[in-house]
Amino acid sequence: MDNSNANNINKGTTSGKTVLITGGAKRIGAVTTHTLHQAGYNVIIHCRLSREAADTLAAELNRERADSAKVIQGDLNNETIYNHLIEEAYQCWNRLDVLVNNASSFYPTPVGSITLDDWHNLLNSNLKAPLFLAQAAAPYLKQVEGNIINMTDVHAQRPMKDHPVYCAAKAGLVMLTMSLAKELGPEVRVNSVAPGAILWPDNEMPEHTKSMILERTTLKKPGDPIDIAKTILFLVRDAHYITGQMIAVDGGRNVNI
Ligand SMILES: NC(=O)c1ccc[n+]([C@@H]2O[C@H](COP(=O)([O-])OP(=O)(O)OC[C@H]3O[C@@H](n4cnc5c(N)ncnc54)[C@H](OP(=O)(O)O)[C@@H]3O)[C@@H](O)[C@H]2O)c1
Repeated sequence: MDNSNANNINKGTTSGKTVLITGGAKRIGAVTTHTLHQAGYNVIIHCRLSREAADTLAAELNRERADSAKVIQGDLNNETIYNHLIEEAYQCWNRLDVLVNNASSFYPTPVGSITLDDWHNLLNSNLKAPLFLAQAAAPYLKQVEGNIINMTDVHAQRPMKDHPVYCAAKAGLVMLTMSLAKELGPEVRVNSVAPGAILWPDNEMPEHTKSMILERTTLKKPGDPIDIAKTILFLVRDAHYITGQMIAVDGGRNVNI
C-alpha cells in the first residue's frame, strides 16, 4: 500500500492494516484501539452508546495520523446489523485484517432471578455477535491472512458467583475460539485473551469483593488495560504460529482462584 499521501500527518507510520474493535470507545477497548493505532494499524472503533467517546478518540488518533481512525455504531442485540457492520468496516479502507470481539455486557444473574431477556442480552454481545461477526469477516480476513481476537475471561473456565449466564457465554466463546481456529485456518488465526481483574465494572462493586478478588490473585494487584492491549498486539502481529489458544492475563488468578 502507498503510504506517501502528502496529507498524511504521520506522527506514527501506518502499516496499511486495519482492525475493527467492538466496544472500542472506552476502558480496555479504548486502550486496545490506541495501542494498535500506535503500532500502525488503521482503527475502526465500534460503539453502541458511547458515540461521543468514540468520536473523541477517533479525532485524537486522526490528529496523530490523518485518515487512520473511523467510528461505526450499532447495538449487538440487533442481529440484523452483524453483516452490515462488517461491510461498513471493510469499506473504510477496502480491507480488514483484524477483528477484536471486545464488546460485552456484564452483570449478575443469580439463579432464581434469570429472565430470558438476561439470557439474550448476555449471550448476544458475548457469544452470538462474535460468531456472526467472525463469519461475515472471514472472507475478508482470508484475503490478508488476518486475525480474530475474542475477549474471554478467567471466569470462562471457573464460575464467578451469581454470574452463570455471563460465565456460560464466555465459556462458549472459548470453544468458539478453538472451533473458528480450526474452521478458518490456515489463512486466519483465531485466539482469545482472558483478563482477570483489570478494571472494576462501572456498576458499584463492594470494596470487600474487590479485596477478596485481589487476595486470590497471585500477584496481589489488579492489572492494567495496557497488559491486555499488548497481549492482543503480540497475538495479531508477532505470534505467527499461535492459533486456537486462550492467553490468561490475570496476575495468576487462575492458579489461585
Ligand atoms: N474489565 C475487566 O477487568 C475484565 C475482566 C474479565 C474480562 N473482561 C473482558 O474484556 C473485555 C473488555 O472489558 P471492559 O471491562 O473494558 O468492557 P466493558 O466496559 O464492560 O464493555 C465494553 C463495551 O461493550 C459495549 N457493549 C456492551 N453491550 C453491547 C451491545 N449489546 N452492543 C454493542 N456494544 C455493547 C459497550 O459499548 P458502548 O459503551 O458504546 O455502549 C461497552 O463500552 C470484555 O469482553 C470483558 O468481558 C474484562
